[in-house]
Amino acid sequence: MMEIKFIICNDYDEMSHRAAEIFAAQIKENPESVLGLATGSTPVGMYSELASMGLDFSRIKSVNLDEYYPISPKNENSYRYFMNENLFSKVNININNTYVPNGEAADAEKECREYDALIDRLGGIDLQVLGIGPNGHIGFNEPDTELFAGTHVTSLTLSTVEANSRFFSSVDEVPKKAITMGMSSILSAKKIVLLISGKNKHAALKALLDDKITPAVPATFLKLHRDVTVICDKAAYEG
Ligand code: GLP
Repeated sequence: MMEIKFIICNDYDEMSHRAAEIFAAQIKENPESVLGLATGSTPVGMYSELASMGLDFSRIKSVNLDEYYPISPKNENSYRYFMNENLFSKVNININNTYVPNGEAADAEKECREYDALIDRLGGIDLQVLGIGPNGHIGFNEPDTELFAGTHVTSLTLSTVEANSRFFSSVDEVPKKAITMGMSSILSAKKIVLLISGKNKHAALKALLDDKITPAVPATFLKLHRDVTVICDKAAYEG
């Protein structure tokens, strides 16, 4: 049986520290690693710790999970902006080796096809970090009756628009669509670390503890992967 490994931490800081250690080990072991990166408030602590470790990112490549659509990279709520702020500007990564779906692409379908081709060209993702939505979404793969394998344009559920509206001045300003890697792109990563913090993620975490896989909770597909580590805090674990 392939089983998800759980690391239960006392709090957010410990979770961030454990995750940063895993990323640091990956970067030291293979300084040319392809890192799969995520946005949201959850990985912020991990990025800030990683940035303070003096690691050499000069040959690292990164691909992000998703981006709102449409959105300008200059918009402070874009995921490109987030990555530049929280990690890329703080380490010696070559910005040309950092990839985030283009929220301004004129032809979004073409952008999706090119993003999948890019991941292939890079040789796949060595280590992917994920956050999780309260409804169990990963990237922007929202609960549905069917999920997509490759990168695609998706409509955000009302609950995700509401959950993410805390970063915008009003709900109306949250883009209603996104470009996201699909389930196959995520599950093709060699190693996956899923970070879960806070009481409001308890239901999503609980769905990972039993043996069921359902598109109603996209994260449950991670049970099909050989090397997933969930690092969570007590608040998320105990609810
Ligand atoms: C967004 C992102 C996800 C992220 C989720 C949770 O919808 N697309 O990748 O995991 O939010 O965000 P947070 O960590 O802020 O709770």
